[in-house]
Amino acid sequence: MGMIPQDIIREVLERADIVSTVSAYISLKRAGRNYKALCPFHTEKTPSFVVNPDKQIFHCFGCGEGGNAITFVMKQEHLDFPDAIRRMAERASIVIPERETGDPKIRDLKQALGHVNELAAQFFHQYLMTSRDEATKQARDYLKKRAVSLEIVEKFRLGFAPDQWDGLLDFLRKKDISPSLMEKAGLIIAREKQDGHYDRFRNRIMFPIFDIKGQCIAFGARAMKKDDAAKYINSPETEIYVKGQHLYGLHMAKPAVSQEDRVIVVEGYMDFIMPYQAGVLSIAASLGTALTVEQIRLIRRYTKNIVMLYDTDKAGEAATLRSLDMLIEEGMNVQVATLTEGDDPDSFVCKFGGAALLEQVQKAQNLFDYKLTLLKQQFDSRSVEGRARICAEMLPTINKFENAIVKSEYMKQLAQTLSISQEALIAEMQKLVAHSRGEAREPAPQRGLLKEQPRKVEQNILKLMLEDENFVSLTKEEIPLSDFRDASIRTIISEIYKLFEDGKEINPLNLMNCFDDQHVRSIIAGLTVHEEVGVVDKNKVYRDCVDRMIQDRRKSQRQELLIKIRSAEVTGNHAVLEQLKEQYNQLVKNKG
Ligand code: CTP
Ligand code: MN
Repeated sequence: MGMIPQDIIREVLERADIVSTVSAYISLKRAGRNYKALCPFHTEKTPSFVVNPDKQIFHCFGCGEGGNAITFVMKQEHLDFPDAIRRMAERASIVIPERETGDPKIRDLKQALGHVNELAAQFFHQYLMTSRDEATKQARDYLKKRAVSLEIVEKFRLGFAPDQWDGLLDFLRKKDISPSLMEKAGLIIAREKQDGHYDRFRNRIMFPIFDIKGQCIAFGARAMKKDDAAKYINSPETEIYVKGQHLYGLHMAKPAVSQEDRVIVVEGYMDFIMPYQAGVLSIAASLGTALTVEQIRLIRRYTKNIVMLYDTDKAGEAATLRSLDMLIEEGMNVQVATLTEGDDPDSFVCKFGGAALLEQVQKAQNLFDYKLTLLKQQFDSRSVEGRARICAEMLPTINKFENAIVKSEYMKQLAQTLSISQEALIAEMQKLVAHSRGEAREPAPQRGLLKEQPRKVEQNILKLMLEDENFVSLTKEEIPLSDFRDASIRTIISEIYKLFEDGKEINPLNLMNCFDDQHVRSIIAGLTVHEEVGVVDKNKVYRDCVDRMIQDRRKSQRQELLIKIRSAEVTGNHAVLEQLKEQYNQLVKNKG
């Protein structure tokens, strides 16, 4: 399926009234110009979920979720943007013209690839279940030896690729599939020195990989013997399969993940299958090493809480560490569970059972403790160099947290654990922050529960810009974008400038449609459900805001300088100290 034309999206939005959209799921009570309800996205006893029909948006003051009708359907039904549009179009009887949905060639190819993969999955599964040849018997024995139940074999459509060069090729040819399509699907490989093709997967246990909707898009294939050159062979990337964009098993696990509001992420096929078979149902496998941003975002449709459960070996630890910073950046609440040395979830469940695995998950550490424990094993925390190394590794992770309270709490803990002064740690952090500011790329706006709300003054300026375009041009002239501390606010304002330059109308709905990001949408929504700034006061309010921004900038410059001065005092660097003091005096004098 391809792109949905812009005018269809617009039509869906125009026709989808927020009140009737939301009312299809929960019951709303009128409250003045707004409607109220118990929030469907978190548990609460008194309603803090507000729907505003004038602005066509919703916002929850309890959990911070917010957006328009589309966002609501996305969130409520765990759909991505195009699928939410499709669902809403369907309900409003709007027909999405098939021919306009993207490049028809690509669309047809994708459909065809899906079909071939389905057929292949069917062939491998049938073969495993019914063939009487020796190799297939070994395959069944292999799965029995690994304690995989028949029920699971059927549920996840495990299969066997026969020990032949053209088993699948023959089967698909009889179904009128062209070799060129089979090759595009990665199922067969062209011979080098002569015409023709041969099966990619031979004499292997087949794990079909499904997308979130349960459609087979690729395969993982395991050798049955230890001496085989490659333990796993996987489908190459195709038009419908990009590595790192899917999670194995999530199509089955998603109801449990939603219900338990938590997912356990493991590495491999068997690490998914054996716990799932033992009743650990809210689980998915990343199939490879570190998690990718796409995988994290897929998970975030169902839950923000993730427990990493990778193999308890060096590779698993390294992959976990590599995933952590990205997980924080994406606003996930992360914990890390560990198993007995050398085990993976598969072997652990086989030895101790599903309940024991869940116990390990209960005992998961927060990521600060986990990372610190690993670092203390790696570096000698009794030596100065060791402690410096540990700090150097911990600080960037701590810095990823947007919430200042969380950040300072972790700084305190780190200083205590390593018996170093908090001042020194703050000075190091300051260096790090200064360094990362120098980087050209804007950090991704942060999301999640730990996310701090932007400062009131920044919200007010944004609100005024949305109410009156004069304030857009004024702000552009008077306040440098970098003075806004909140990354999401900066993103929103840049977008407003773009709309402004293109001569497009700036209203909350238009603006919200520029963003996929829940947190950004929720900020915009949050602003518009509050009262308008009084008409008479607008200019005065704006001037006050600008003054406040200038004062704040000076204050933070002073603070940065003070920290530098303190660390120069500690290190006894007199020349630098004098310079800094001079700068400080200038700053205070120019206050004006
Ligand atoms: N993997 C892969 N190709 C490889 C090795 C690993 O794609 N050559 C992926 C597979 O998805 C595999 C996961 O990485 O499931 C974890 O690898 P590993 O721990 O080596 O395999 P296990 O899942 O433990 O497989 P098994 O229990 O069958 O040995
Ligand atoms: Mn294993």
